[in-house]
Amino acid sequence: MINGHALDGADLGARPEQGLQAAPGIAIKVRDLVVGFGDKLVMQGLDLDVYRGEVLGFVGGSGTGKSVLTRTILGLIRKRSGTIEIFGSDLDSLSPREYAAIERRIGVMFQQGALFSGLTVKQNVQVPMREHLHLSPRLSEELAMLKIELAGLDLDAANKYPAELSGGMTKRAALARALALDPELVFLDEPTSGLDPIGAAEFDELIATLQRTLGLTVFMVTHDLDSLYSICDRIAALADGKVVVEGPISAMLDSRHPWVHAYFHGKRARLVDTAFAKRSGASGEAAETSPGENANGFSE
Ligand SMILES: Nc1ncnc2c1ncn2[C@@H]1O[C@H](COP(=O)(O)OP(=O)(O)OP(=O)(O)O)[C@@H](O)[C@H]1O
Ligand SMILES: [Mg+2]
Repeated sequence: MINGHALDGADLGARPEQGLQAAPGIAIKVRDLVVGFGDKLVMQGLDLDVYRGEVLGFVGGSGTGKSVLTRTILGLIRKRSGTIEIFGSDLDSLSPREYAAIERRIGVMFQQGALFSGLTVKQNVQVPMREHLHLSPRLSEELAMLKIELAGLDLDAANKYPAELSGGMTKRAALARALALDPELVFLDEPTSGLDPIGAAEFDELIATLQRTLGLTVFMVTHDLDSLYSICDRIAALADGKVVVEGPISAMLDSRHPWVHAYFHGKRARLVDTAFAKRSGASGEAAETSPGENANGFSE
């Protein structure tokens, strides 16, 4: 599984690039994915592309399967059928060593933060480093402090335990851990939920800055309309176990899918739309984009 636990036999010192040449332009490719629990199918033939260097916002009603998709891509939930490629490699075809090399290139911030309660923030950030890198204690400490700073935390937060953190600090600590291995691809599950609007906007800004400066690809599950407008290059909407619309915000605004329409044209959406148009001077012009169509000029 990715970014969870060390794989048996994994070559922890492997160079990420070795033997895993990626298809240019694409970070994640999911095809015809079926995932279920007992009789219940959560993914019912889902297709999704995430392009390198983009921030993809992933939306859908509560309980539709956003976290399940994230966890399935990460190898934490077993799929029934379909294919998942990351950086051009079909995850089913990888040896443990190749899998570990992919794993090293990915950072994850889970919905609930998922910090280890018995470890300090710094020790939490050091967990993936211990799993994947051979560092001296001093270097590991210095790197962890760097990530903590990068995530916008005061350095004195490093020695605090998760129970001593506010909600916003917990998010930043989880982000610091997600960045521990200098990932190319980061999964963020509801990064701004529970934050006040100012804290959420600051966190969005942080993600946008990190994405630009580190060249990250970001897969971000979110309910936050502000985030969707301000930092997402494209959005994919999940309903009935499939991606029903995929494209820039204009594709969401144009969609006639009932849930997507209600979400992007509801009262809260109109407020965000108006505020965004004022801030950016956007014309509100919309372009039709069908599912799977590439809105940003990326190609496989
Ligand atoms: N391990 C599991 N075993 C059984 N059912 C599960 C499991 N994990 C998730 N589910 C079910 O799968 C469905 C999708 O759950 P998921 O957590 O992906 O929703 P979500 O879209 O992330 O919702 P939210 O926006 O509330 O976080 C739900 O009906 C949930 O009960
Ligand atoms: Mg969820």
